[in-house]
Amino acid sequence: MKLGTFELPNRLFVAPMAGVTDRPFRMLCRRLGAGYTVSEMVTSQRALWSSLKTSRRADHAGEPGPIAVQIAGVDPAEMADAARYNIDRGAQIIDINMGCPAKKVCNTWAGSALMSNEALAGRILDAVVAACAPRGVPVTLKMRSGRCDGERNALALARLAEQAGVAMVAVHGRTREQGFKGLAEYDTVAAVKAGLSIPVVVSGDIDSPAKARAVLAFTRADALMIGRAAQGRPWIFREVAHFLATGRELAAPTVAEAASWIGAHLHDHYALYGELGGVRSARKHIGWALRELPGGEAFRARMNLIDDCAAQLTAVNEWFERLGQAHDRLPRIAAPAANDEQIELSA
Ligand SMILES: Cc1cc2nc3c(=O)[nH]c(=O)nc-3n(C[C@H](O)[C@H](O)[C@H](O)COP(=O)(O)O)c2cc1C
Repeated sequence: MKLGTFELPNRLFVAPMAGVTDRPFRMLCRRLGAGYTVSEMVTSQRALWSSLKTSRRADHAGEPGPIAVQIAGVDPAEMADAARYNIDRGAQIIDINMGCPAKKVCNTWAGSALMSNEALAGRILDAVVAACAPRGVPVTLKMRSGRCDGERNALALARLAEQAGVAMVAVHGRTREQGFKGLAEYDTVAAVKAGLSIPVVVSGDIDSPAKARAVLAFTRADALMIGRAAQGRPWIFREVAHFLATGRELAAPTVAEAASWIGAHLHDHYALYGELGGVRSARKHIGWALRELPGGEAFRARMNLIDDCAAQLTAVNEWFERLGQAHDRLPRIAAPAANDEQIELSA
């Protein structure tokens, strides 16, 4: 799949998740089979660009390209400025967020609330494309299926985006009103794909290789995004890649492999966030990795009391060593759906 001049290695994308898909996590997913990642959302408000949080988000040191940065905001000129600012700091693709239902973003009409205001959304798309085109930087758009059940206007917006010169559209098959409740539906994504000639990416509830294959077949999307299912299980990307290529399930990683990936991730994580911030924010990643493993919950409670990076890493390594004495491979907790027919995709 091509995005501007960039040839993507496959069609398995990491869904952008604020507070999760930082550079260490993105690089981990890339190493484990994801073909494309998008940075966490950067606000278009100039006053916040010098904050530690935003400057960390705009730091792409050592990351394999193309570097895609997501921006969010409501003012077309500010959004164009934010695009230029991020291009100057290494962004090679600019992604506009019209998909986030978070209050912080929606109160000011940004994120998925923009979907209700197609005129403003159109002006933002035009302004950002005009800022990026002279620099040869493709613009992409991430959105939801619509504002609410009776207003699934993703296709109309996607058409606006295509006319504005947007290079790719990603659709999460839930409405803004749904937040993360209920199930994602894929009819809207299929309609967007059928109505557009630019690549379309499907997002929402893809949590197993079989589901990935079924959703791609149903929507005919060019690529898929995996978000929550990659939390603590970044190797899902290589599992999906293997399944799509061969039709067979890849064996679960060995305990030693998982321990070495998680250890490397923690090293990168501590290096980005420092001692105090690092030990705290690493807890969620460790918790996700262990939550479905035997004894993981009990360990999590103990691990949350550790306030030192080296001690946290040692505790995790020791925990995996003990797990390795009982299991060669990570024990599978939830059995994945056996075949595509069992997966309900249409509303
Ligand atoms: C913690 C979290 C943060 C998210 N942050 C963003 C974001 O900053 N920008 C965005 O476009 N989508 C964001 N999303 C939405 C995801 O990209 C994705 O579309 C959604 O989670 C559905 O996919 P999943 O079921 O694979 O998680 C976020 C989702 C989660 C769970």
